[in-house]
Amino acid sequence: MLQESHVVTISRFLIDEERKYPEAKGAFTGLLSDIALAAKVIGREVNKAGLVDILGGAGQENVHGEYQQKLDVFADQVMYRALDHTGLVACMASEEHEHFIPIPEKFPAGDYVVLFDPLDGSSNIDLNVSIGTIFSIHRKCTDGERGTLEDCLQPGCRQVASGYVLYGSSTMLVYTSGTGVHGFTLDPSIGEFILSHPDMRIPNPPKKVYSVNEAYFTRWSEEQQKLVSHLKNEGGFGSRYIGSMVADVHRTLLQGGLFMYPPERSRPDGKLRLLYEAAPMAFIIEQAGGRASTGTQNIRDIQPTELHQRVPIYLGSRELVELAEEMLANTSPMSSS
Ligand code: AHG
Ligand code: MN
Ligand code: MN
Repeated sequence: MLQESHVVTISRFLIDEERKYPEAKGAFTGLLSDIALAAKVIGREVNKAGLVDILGGAGQENVHGEYQQKLDVFADQVMYRALDHTGLVACMASEEHEHFIPIPEKFPAGDYVVLFDPLDGSSNIDLNVSIGTIFSIHRKCTDGERGTLEDCLQPGCRQVASGYVLYGSSTMLVYTSGTGVHGFTLDPSIGEFILSHPDMRIPNPPKKVYSVNEAYFTRWSEEQQKLVSHLKNEGGFGSRYIGSMVADVHRTLLQGGLFMYPPERSRPDGKLRLLYEAAPMAFIIEQAGGRASTGTQNIRDIQPTELHQRVPIYLGSRELVELAEEMLANTSPMSSS
C-alpha cells in the first residue's frame, strides 16, 4: 500500500525546488502548476474521448493544412485559458494558431513566454493510442510591457523549462527546468500528479531500437537509407514507431534508442516543428544525458525565423545520435525542386 507520508505531489516538488533559489518569487512554480492543471483537464477529456461526441473533425484546416480534430481545438483553448489571466505570461504561441497570441489588455502580462503543441499525435485520437501535450517556456527578451513575436522566436538553448504530458495508460507530466528531468504520474483517485520518476536519465547502454516512419524510405537521401539499413542489419536493432512524438520520445527517454523524423525530397525540413516539438523535446533529452540534432546541428542552437518552421530531428541516446550525424555527414542538401 502507498505510504502517504512519502508521496511527493508536483506542487510540493515545485515548492521544494523553488526554495533552492532564495530570489525566486513563485512565478515559475505558479506557471508550472497552471500547466499541470490544464493537463488534468485535457487528460480528462482525452480519457473519455471514446464515450462522448467530441470526436471527429472540427471542419476547419489548421495552419499546417492538416485536418484539425475537435480535441485539438479543445486542448488549445484549455492551455490558453489556463495561462491568459494569471499575470505570469507575456505572450503565447500554439501550433494551432497562425500568429503569436498576445495576452488580452484586460489582464496583466508577466515575464514568461509559453509555446505549445496542445495535442500531439492527434491522428491517433480515434484509435485510443497515446497522445500528448508539449510545452516550451522562455523568459521575455524584449523590453516592452507585453510579449511580441520576437519573444517567441528564441533559440531552444534559451528555454527556461520544457516538458510534455503523455496521455497513455497513465497520464504523466515530464519536465525539466535545467536541473534534471522529473516525471510525475497522475493518480486519478486524488487528482494529483505524484513524483514517480525523479531525475530521469536515458539508460546506458541503450535498448537497440530505432524509431522512424519507415514507409518514407524511398523519399530519404541515400545516407539516411544507409543509416537505417545499418542499424537493423549490422546493428541488430529493433524498430518501434507509435506515430505520436510524445509517446515515441517518452519510450526513448525510458529505454534509450534513436528517434528520427528525417528530411525527405518533398519535405527537406521534415515534418516536426522547431518551437512546439523539436526544441522542447531536445531540452528534455539533453537534460537526461542524450542528444538532439538536425543531423548536422544541435537543435537547441537554431535561431528560429518563423513560428511554424519545421526541422529534421534525430534525438535519443548520445552515441546513436552521434552515429547518425557521422553517417549523414556527406548528405547533399535536399531540395524539393
Ligand atoms: P500533431 O498531431 O501535433 O500534428 O503531430 C503529429 C506528429 C508527431 O506526433 C508524430 O511524430 C508525427 O506527426 C508522425 O508523422 P507521420 O505520420 O508522418 O509518421
Ligand atoms: Mn505535434
Ligand atoms: Mn498538435
